[in-house]
Amino acid sequence: MKIAILKERRDGETRVAGSPEVVTKLINLGFQVAVETDAGAGASFADAVFKDAGASIAANAAAALKGADVVLKILAPDATELKAFTKGQILIASLGALTNPNEMKSFAAAGLTTFAMELMPRISRAQSMDILSSQSNLAGYKAVLDAAAEFGRVFPMMMTAAGTVAPAKVFIMGVGVAGLQAIATAKRLGAVVTATDVRPATKEQVESLGGKFLVVDADMEKDAQTEGGYAKEMPPEYFAKQKKVVAEHITKQDIVITTALIPGRPAPVLVSEDMVASMKPGSIIVDLAVEAGGNCPLSKLGQIVTTRNGVKIIGHANVAGRLAEDASKLFAKNLLNFITPQVDGETKTLAIDWQDEVITGTLVSKDGKVVHPRLTAPKTDKKPAKKAAPNPASTPKRKGK
Ligand code: NAI
Repeated sequence: MKIAILKERRDGETRVAGSPEVVTKLINLGFQVAVETDAGAGASFADAVFKDAGASIAANAAAALKGADVVLKILAPDATELKAFTKGQILIASLGALTNPNEMKSFAAAGLTTFAMELMPRISRAQSMDILSSQSNLAGYKAVLDAAAEFGRVFPMMMTAAGTVAPAKVFIMGVGVAGLQAIATAKRLGAVVTATDVRPATKEQVESLGGKFLVVDADMEKDAQTEGGYAKEMPPEYFAKQKKVVAEHITKQDIVITTALIPGRPAPVLVSEDMVASMKPGSIIVDLAVEAGGNCPLSKLGQIVTTRNGVKIIGHANVAGRLAEDASKLFAKNLLNFITPQVDGETKTLAIDWQDEVITGTLVSKDGKVVHPRLTAPKTDKKPAKKAAPNPASTPKRKGK
C-alpha cells in the first residue's frame, strides 16, 4: 500500500497534508509513503525531515502518484493537477465539495474515490478527524494576534509610573471553535472580553473562559442550533434585534473579531457599515468569515482595509495557513485518525468499512459517480446560497470580493 503526499499548488496555500510524525505512523500502519519534493516547504518541513521519518521523496507529483493507493492533500487538485491521477486512487482532502460540485463530478469522471474531510459528521468519535475544528482553533488564535499587531494600543491594563493604560475591549461574534479560542487568547493577553452567538449553549462556554455573554433574544435563540451542532439561519426579526443590541455595544469596543458561519449559506452580515462608522479611530475588526462572503460588508478578502473613520478591517485569507506548521501537523493528524480505523492491522491492507458513519458522511465519489447525498439529493430549499459556503479548512480563493 502506498500513500502519496502532494505539494499544494493553489494560490496562498502554505500547508501540507502530512507531517514527519504522521509519516512515521503511516509507515507503522503498513504504508509506503512518498512525499513530493518541497511539499513541506511552506510549513517548515524540509524534504530531509520527511526522509528521516521514513518517506521517499518524489521528484514531482507524477512520481509521487505512481502506484499510490491513497493520496493526501490539503485542498482539491485543480484540473491540471488532476491529470496526473489514475483511476481507482483514493483522494482524501478538504475538497470544498458542496461549493464546487463540478469539480466533484470531474473527480468521479476520473474514477477517483474521494473523501471530503470538511463533511466529517459531528459525532464524538470523529472529533479527532475534524479538520474544521483543528484549523478553526488556530484561526481563532491567530485572529487575536493579527488584531494585536495592527492595534495601536496594548491589551492588558498597565499601571506604570508614567500613567495607567486601560485594557482593550474585545468583542467576539460567533462562539464556535474559532470564537472560543479567540476569547481564550484575548483573555490571556489581558483584554476585557465580551462575546455573542445565536446558540444559547455558548453562554456558559463564554463565561467559563472569563468572558461576558451578550444576549440578543433568549427566546429565539432556544431553537438556533441544528442537531449537528451548527447554527441555523435566523429569522429577519432576530437580525433586526441583533443589529440593535450589537450596534449599542460595538461603539464601545476596540477590537471586534467575527467568526459567524452557517454551513451551505453565505456568512451572516453582523457588522454593518453604520456600525463600523460608529467605532472609534484605531479600532480593529478581524473578519474570519471573509471567505464565505464576510460578516462585515466592508471586509475584503486578503486585504487590510482602513475606513474613512480610521477603523482597520482585517480580511486575511487562509488564516490557519498563517500558522502553517501547526496547521499542517494537526490536519495531517486528522487524516491519520481518519485512515487508521480503515486499515486491517493484521494484513496491513486497507479494509474500508463502507457502512461506517465517518465514511458515508465524507464519501463524495466512487465507481465513477458522485454519491454524497448532499450532492445528489434534489434541492428542496427555496433560498439557494448566493455565495460560497464556509469552509475554513479550504481557505485560499483566487480572487477578492
Ligand atoms: P461554525 O464555524 O459553523 O460557526 C461559527 C459560530 O458562528 C457558531 O458558533 C455559530 O453558532 C455562530 N453563528 C452563526 N450565525 C450567527 C449569527 N447570526 N450571530 C452570531 N453567531 C452566529 O461553527 P463551528 O465552530 O464549526 O462549531 C459549531 C459547534 O459544533 C461548536 O459547538 C462545536 O463545539 C461543535 N463541534 C462538534 C464537533 C464534534 O462533535 N465532532 C467537532 C467540531 C465542532
